[in-house]
Amino acid sequence: MALILGLETSCDETAVALVDSGRRILAERILSQIKEHKAFGGVVPEIAARAHLDHLDRLIGETMEEAGLSYGDLSAVAATAGPGLIGGVIVGVTTAKAIALAHDLPFIGVNHLEGHALTARLTDDVAFPYLLLLVSGGHCQLLAVEGVGKYRRLGTTIDDAVGEAFDKTAKLLGLGFPGGPAVEQAALAGNASRFALPRPMLGRKGCDFSLAGLKTAVRLAAEKLGEASAQDIGDLCASFQAAIGDVLVDRCRNALEVFSQTHSGPVRLVVAGGVAANKYLRQRLHDLAQNEGASLIAPPPRLCTDNAAMIAWAGIERLRLGQCDALDLAPRPRWPLDPAATAKIGRAGLGAGVKV
Ligand code: KG4
Ligand code: ZN
Repeated sequence: MALILGLETSCDETAVALVDSGRRILAERILSQIKEHKAFGGVVPEIAARAHLDHLDRLIGETMEEAGLSYGDLSAVAATAGPGLIGGVIVGVTTAKAIALAHDLPFIGVNHLEGHALTARLTDDVAFPYLLLLVSGGHCQLLAVEGVGKYRRLGTTIDDAVGEAFDKTAKLLGLGFPGGPAVEQAALAGNASRFALPRPMLGRKGCDFSLAGLKTAVRLAAEKLGEASAQDIGDLCASFQAAIGDVLVDRCRNALEVFSQTHSGPVRLVVAGGVAANKYLRQRLHDLAQNEGASLIAPPPRLCTDNAAMIAWAGIERLRLGQCDALDLAPRPRWPLDPAATAKIGRAGLGAGVKV
């Protein structure tokens, strides 16, 4: 039985987890830095890095203590080595390397996106291959997951990520940060057909996304409203969420078709990343999968948003294949899952795991 300590520090959660190869999370800690960043309306990289530094050692100690384990019990130490905010990534990687060196353990530098991509194997023991919709603050991709380290990108966003669109909508409507959960909450009491918002790319061939036009339409609708009432805000959030749902369903339908042409056997659609915590979108994707003869696997919401259990688990998958890293591994602010895919993202910052 392998046992791995995983560290996640690539954005604004300082997270630590102990996971074993029997798919058990033995202990974990997640410290959100939301309070530190709230006043700025987004994650401030320098503040994030300092906060990781302030708390990581203590959280590791607490996690080990809760599990009643010592470093000698570990099989390896894994940390997110990118993509993400580089200051935070350096804190996690350096800490993991120090533990590995001091206790003579293998070190594994994990791609944060691979952590999201493999979570469904930790939670639901999903077999390869599967179709993955990865939707977070900085990423919006459809990938064929064929094995550990084997990803083929079928589509990506040509402008904004879905989580980013949620965060910007929330900011515009004064719902605060982070935006996703706030928009989902406000949408519960809203009328989704009040605002006729665009559904970019709907009906087009392929699996790419574009959300900039929808974001602009939300801004124009909000400006037209002027002083918005709670009902106005709920209606706009519900209309926005419904548009996102239509876009995701349309793009995933195309991707399911491409995927089943190239892979035999049962078709599994896995959704991962922070946006996958959204109950409305999970339901929409569930319905799509059912209509298309596929099955939807969505990890529990707390394992969709950033956490260290997914990093420890990706470490276990890599360790099983003997894929450990040398202690001079360099953290990577950018690190695509499918390096062969053409870079379609034109704007600096996108794709780096940043949240706003
Ligand atoms: O995966 P994650 O925790 O961090 C990144 O790697 O980006 O994703 C964070 C993103 C944020 O944009 C946040 O607003 C969004 O996921 N999010 C949601 C929900 N919970 C988090 N979006 C929609 N509905 C939610 N319930
Ligand atoms: Zn993430």
